[in-house]
Amino acid sequence: MAHSKPHYSFFLLSHVLIAIFCGVNASSIPSTTRIIPSTTVTGPVTVQTVSDNTPINFPKLSAVNDTTPEFWFFAAVSPDLNASATVTFFTTTEDGFEFVGDSGSVDTVLVQITFPNGTSFSTELAASEAVITSSTGDLTDTADDVSGSISITAIAPPHYPFSPVEPGQTLEVAPNLGWENAVPGATANVKVNIQGTPVEFTGIGYQDHNWSPAPFLSIFSSYYWGLTQLGPYTLVWFDVFDLSGVEHVSSYVAANGAIIVAEKGSNTVVPFGANDEFPPHAGDGDPTGFNITVDLGKEGILEATVTAEVVLAEVEGLFTRWISKAEGGIKGGTQYEGPAMNEEFRLT
Ligand SMILES: *[C@@H]1O[C@H](CO)[C@@H](O)[C@H](O)[C@H]1NC(C)=O
Ligand SMILES: *[C@@H]1O[C@H](CO)[C@@H](O)[C@H](O)[C@H]1NC(C)=O
Ligand SMILES: *[C@@H]1O[C@H](CO)[C@@H](O)[C@H](O)[C@H]1NC(C)=O
Ligand SMILES: *[C@@H]1O[C@H](CO)[C@@H](O)[C@H](O)[C@H]1NC(C)=O
Repeated sequence: MAHSKPHYSFFLLSHVLIAIFCGVNASSIPSTTRIIPSTTVTGPVTVQTVSDNTPINFPKLSAVNDTTPEFWFFAAVSPDLNASATVTFFTTTEDGFEFVGDSGSVDTVLVQITFPNGTSFSTELAASEAVITSSTGDLTDTADDVSGSISITAIAPPHYPFSPVEPGQTLEVAPNLGWENAVPGATANVKVNIQGTPVEFTGIGYQDHNWSPAPFLSIFSSYYWGLTQLGPYTLVWFDVFDLSGVEHVSSYVAANGAIIVAEKGSNTVVPFGANDEFPPHAGDGDPTGFNITVDLGKEGILEATVTAEVVLAEVEGLFTRWISKAEGGIKGGTQYEGPAMNEEFRLT
């Protein structure tokens, strides 16, 4: 055992982005560093689709070309649902992920903060290079109008789309949609200052990583994704409809530091209330919430009702990300409440 608690941090300086991932099986992770320059390569790049012994969170693309998006997402939500912070490190062009826009660099960082009064702040920073490394360190996030730190300490083991972290597993949650989840559940400490306004809270945290050989908005039809912590349970759902209409469902539940399920298809994610069309289509409005049901085998059925509270980010008719309130627990057992963050894409 290397470290008692996996701890994930990053440094963001004005012109160089350094993401540091440390902690999970740190003793077995070679101290490897990958530098991703701000410009693209021409022609095909190699895309990893099956796990090997490479550390989780390391780049799965051999380089960035004009159509290959890759990004690392960090999230924190306050227990009272009033505040949130998300930081996404992208290595992509605008063709690779249209929502990112053209910052002039492949390496961009999107910071989105929700203030306690519900107002959102968003800024995008362009870096001259990204350095992805495995090492120890604390987190600092410094830029022109954003400073402070977002630090997450894992409470649940990492996983791949349909398995724990082990070699030989698929890394695609749906065709061409690479995904790995280094930190499904964490305690997050957020201390940031946004243009003079402090936002500080201790809440739930999360971190994952996506990549694709093709533009992100061209590879699937729709998806529901989200995370919550309900009492002892950490729950992550990812329910994707691919371009041919086939549904791919990833179920993850952990409790007390151990995985209960990390597998394909033992859950359902059903929208309710307004706009509950299933599966959703481009142009549809926002549902009121989602019911998530996961079969934990002999431990029972975990049921969560996740109701939208605050819209964090949206592209009308295509994408919404929320802070939500989760309520639920094992069917027939103790019921809990907890903060959640979730999103829906509907692209076709
Ligand atoms: C980028 O690499 C992917 C994966 O090898 C390939 O399918 C795609 O055609 C490449 N894009 C460009 C613009 O060369
Ligand atoms: C947080 O939200 C609650 C409920 O909406 C509200 O009563 C409270 O004043 C908010 N806290 C802050 C710091 O804004
Ligand atoms: C919410 O708080 C932020 C930070 O203090 C402030 O900039 C913004 O104007 C506030 N929004 C409203 C609607 O009061
Ligand atoms: C969602 O769950 C709630 C609480 O269990 C239940 O009342 C409601 O009928 C469910 N809705 C759908 C569409 O499954």
